This record gives sequence, structure tokens and C-alpha cells, in this order.
Amino acid sequence: MTVHFIGAGPGAADLITLRGRDLIAACPVCLYAGSLVPEALLAHCPPGARIVNTASLSLDEIVAEIVDAHAAGQDVARLHSGDLSVWSAMGEQLRRLRALNIPCQVTPGVPSFAAAAATLGAELTLPGLAQSVVLTRLGGRASAMPEGETLENFARTGATLAIHLSVHVLAEVQARLLPHYGADCPVAVVFRASWPDERIEMATLGTLDPALGEGGRTALILVGRTLGANDFDESRLYAGDYDRRFRPVGSAPRFPESA
Ligand SMILES: C[S@@+](CC[C@H](N)C(=O)[O-])C[C@H]1O[C@@H](n2cnc3c(N)ncnc32)[C@H](O)[C@@H]1O
Repeated sequence: MTVHFIGAGPGAADLITLRGRDLIAACPVCLYAGSLVPEALLAHCPPGARIVNTASLSLDEIVAEIVDAHAAGQDVARLHSGDLSVWSAMGEQLRRLRALNIPCQVTPGVPSFAAAAATLGAELTLPGLAQSVVLTRLGGRASAMPEGETLENFARTGATLAIHLSVHVLAEVQARLLPHYGADCPVAVVFRASWPDERIEMATLGTLDPALGEGGRTALILVGRTLGANDFDESRLYAGDYDRRFRPVGSAPRFPESA
């Protein structure tokens, strides 16, 4: 018996890995975080599967469901939105299940920041503009921010910011980032990326209407100079004269083809 933690993707039902889909189809029990996981994914469950929406359950109740499945020798598909490596609450479940010697495996999913970038048709790292993406949030009722992980500290690097779980405090995000990125810095607020009702609001830090934050909670705030940029360097990797392992160039290539 194994508990399969599966990244269910950002919303579109076909943005799940083939492995994730096949595991759902093979598990007689499916626990899903109903607030963000698309119900259409449940169509992959086998006939007669026990399907439980965990949105209203406590951690104790979720673990109890898994313990019951374990006692019955039934594999469990545990679905969380996006990818499991960020804001999935998988860590606390894994800790409980490891203490109970219940085997677990993790299958990654498409994270929402990648879906939002795809919706925008944007690369978040562009030569000369930004080479880092910070996945972050503002502190909330359930999770305080560790000291040091402030918006200001991340902003000082100039990296592209992908701010999760914070659209309801858009005015605060705007006010805290303005001194660092400047009023002309582009901002994209992407609501429900990849869902049928996805929506993009483009602005700059100076023109951003904080009332946009009232347009729904499932949104990412992307901030940085890469957004909408057209004036950036081309990557050296594909330059015609760039000598590299897979395309030796010149009379004395660094990586001769025989090497
Ligand atoms: C609990 S976190 C889950 C993050 C998820 N594990 C991931 O990989 O993106 C929920 C937050 O992720 C963001 N989010 C999740 N799905 C989204 C989507 N389809 N479009 C925009 N933002 C999304 C929002 O900021 C939302 O408040």
C-alpha cells in the first residue's frame, strides 16, 4: 500500500502528468483538496473508488482516512493543486505518515507560477533583466513569514517576483515594492491561470489599481522587468559563434566531437 501525493496542476484538467493521471486511475481511494483541484480530474478514478474532498477536514481527519486505507491495503491518490513542493501542506502529512510507517511517493505537477507565465506567453528569466524567480507570499493568518523573507529583501535583488496567496493585499504589495522596482515596473495579476475563466490584468506598479485584488483569491502577482519586455539580450547559448559541447565551433573547439 502506498500513498501517492500527486500534483494536480494549476486548474486545466489536462495539465496533469501522465504518471499522475495513471496513478489516480489505479488507486481505490482518492483524497483531493477540493478548493483548487479541478473536479474533472476525478473522472480518472476507478469505478467504485472512495473519493473524499478534504477541503473541510482537519489534518487528524485526513490522516485517519489514510490510516483506514492502509489497514485495508488500499493505495491512496492524494491530490493537491499545482506542484507539491510549494504551499501544499504535504510536509506535515508526510511527517505524520512516515511516523506511522505508511509508504509515500510524490509525483510532481505543473505549478501555478508556470501556468501564469504560460498564460502571459512570458519567460520570467531574460538575459540582462532577471535571472532569478522568487516564489513568495505575504504572511497570512495561517503562516507568518520568517524574519528575513520580506518583500523588500527579495525586491532588492531585482529578481522577478511571483507572489502567491496575497492578491487580497494587493495595495500593500504595491506600496512595499514601489520604492524598489519603480513606478514603471510591469506587474501582471493572473487570475485562475489555465481555468476556463482565467483573466490577466497588466499594469505597472504606478498604475496598478489595488481594487483588482477584490477580483478573486486564486491569483498570482508577477512583478519584474521581464514582463512584456522586448529590449533584452539574446542568450549566448544559441549564438552562431558560441562554442559548446553540442555544437563545436572554430578551429580548436573546447569540446572536440570525439571527447
Ligand atoms: C495554496 S497555494 C497552492 C500553490 C500550488 N501548490 C502551486 O504549485 O502553485 C494557492 C495559491 O497559489 C496561487 N494559484 C494557484 N492556482 C492558481 C492559478 N490557476 N492561477 C493563479 N494563481 C494560482 C494563488 O496565489 C493561490 O492563492
